[in-house]
Amino acid sequence: MRIVMIGSGYVGLVSGACLADFGHHVTCVDKSAAKIDALEAGKVPIFEPGLDNIIDHNRNAGRLDFSKELAASVASADVVFIAVGTPSRRGDGHADLSYVYVPTLAAREIAAAVCGFTVVVTKSTVPVGTGDEIERIFREEFPEKDISVVSNPEFLREGAAITDFKRPDRIVLGTEEPRAVEVMREVYRPLYLNEAPLYFCERRTSELIKYAANAFLAMKITFINEIADLCEQIGADVQKVAKGIGMDKRIGDKFLHAGPGYGGSCFPKDTLALVQTAQDHDSPVRLIETTVAINDNRKRAMGRKVIAACDGTVRGKKIAILGLTFKPNTDDMRDAPSITIIQALLDGGANVHAYDPEGMEMAKEVIGPITYGNDPYEIAEDADAIVIVTEWDEFRALDLKRMKSLVKTPTIVDLRNIYPVAEVTKHGFAYFAIGKKN
Ligand code: UGA
Repeated sequence: MRIVMIGSGYVGLVSGACLADFGHHVTCVDKSAAKIDALEAGKVPIFEPGLDNIIDHNRNAGRLDFSKELAASVASADVVFIAVGTPSRRGDGHADLSYVYVPTLAAREIAAAVCGFTVVVTKSTVPVGTGDEIERIFREEFPEKDISVVSNPEFLREGAAITDFKRPDRIVLGTEEPRAVEVMREVYRPLYLNEAPLYFCERRTSELIKYAANAFLAMKITFINEIADLCEQIGADVQKVAKGIGMDKRIGDKFLHAGPGYGGSCFPKDTLALVQTAQDHDSPVRLIETTVAINDNRKRAMGRKVIAACDGTVRGKKIAILGLTFKPNTDDMRDAPSITIIQALLDGGANVHAYDPEGMEMAKEVIGPITYGNDPYEIAEDADAIVIVTEWDEFRALDLKRMKSLVKTPTIVDLRNIYPVAEVTKHGFAYFAIGKKN
């Protein structure tokens, strides 16, 4: 199959590289000359474990290439994926309208250039109805072209994207057109031979599945975060509560890690977009509205939790922050809880030092005046508190004895619950975790 991926951002690159790995010929297209030049020079512009190896391997095998020329690339394609970004519009949470139009603009360019039967697939998270709009454009403006429009949302997690692509729980495909069904079966043949279910449904249903899935997961996290607060008040342990309820298969044990609130480029944006779409259709999703509000408050509350652990004030105190990105194994700082937490500490007069294995470059653009260090021990020196914000593996095995000898006040606030209480307290630290009585 000849596949073209329009948009070589996170989703486009991961999907393009993995589809090439399945044996298809894939061209990843992007309007940014700088991005394509970098990719052609062997530089992968995003941090995703394993991605550079797959890109290298498939380029060497002649199955993957890059291009700035949309028209030339799609002319011979069987399938064209639209994988352009969809950030949220400032203010009202709607998936940016321009991002309905970016796919439709791309769609026009695609339609003008395709030859023969072609399947156009929306891979980015697009507002419900985008597929219908693209189809209308094709029908009215390019009546002579033979194109079928399919929705195929992605469920990749940053940091685990390759595994998620290759071992998905399901592949959702929104199309009822028999020829498109056949083509999409061929695209995902290696997975479906591996018994990953291909789930075909109507296009609008498929578009909504993406928002509903992310909103549900965000709600699940928010639920356990509230239970964590309750645990702190009544002396229960949230990790054990999560385990105990997660053993019930109807609930499941995933996405029940209490923490500082969800962040990233997807949950915050997609929950807001779903709330807005539902309001527009006079069918409000109140559970999600509440989830959004609770999560926003939680990030600020985490700042207050650190201040409380420092005897009620951080003025003039040195606070060492371990982890800045919204989760480990990414350099992504979008909507990271660390941004709000650090701002609360700066507002309280703290002197903030931070270290993150991958996120410091991006952090410099979004976080106020703080000092960056080269490792956890450097920033721990003379610190009044150490705060674990992101659960990077390298923070799971800190030399606590050494840490204790470096800090001014032995206090650890662990917003990810990565240490057993006894291990930390045995080294003489006061330990403040999430959802456990201190
Ligand atoms: C999320 C979804 O998990 C993917 O399925 C989806 O494809 C993606 O959004 C998307 O729409 O593109 P991602 O944002 O990369 O993936 O990261 P997650 O692993 O889902 O984590 C999101 C946030 O929730 C992080 O801040 C994480 O720390 C937090 N989280 C996650 C918790 O606080 N507790 C948990 O138990 C799980």
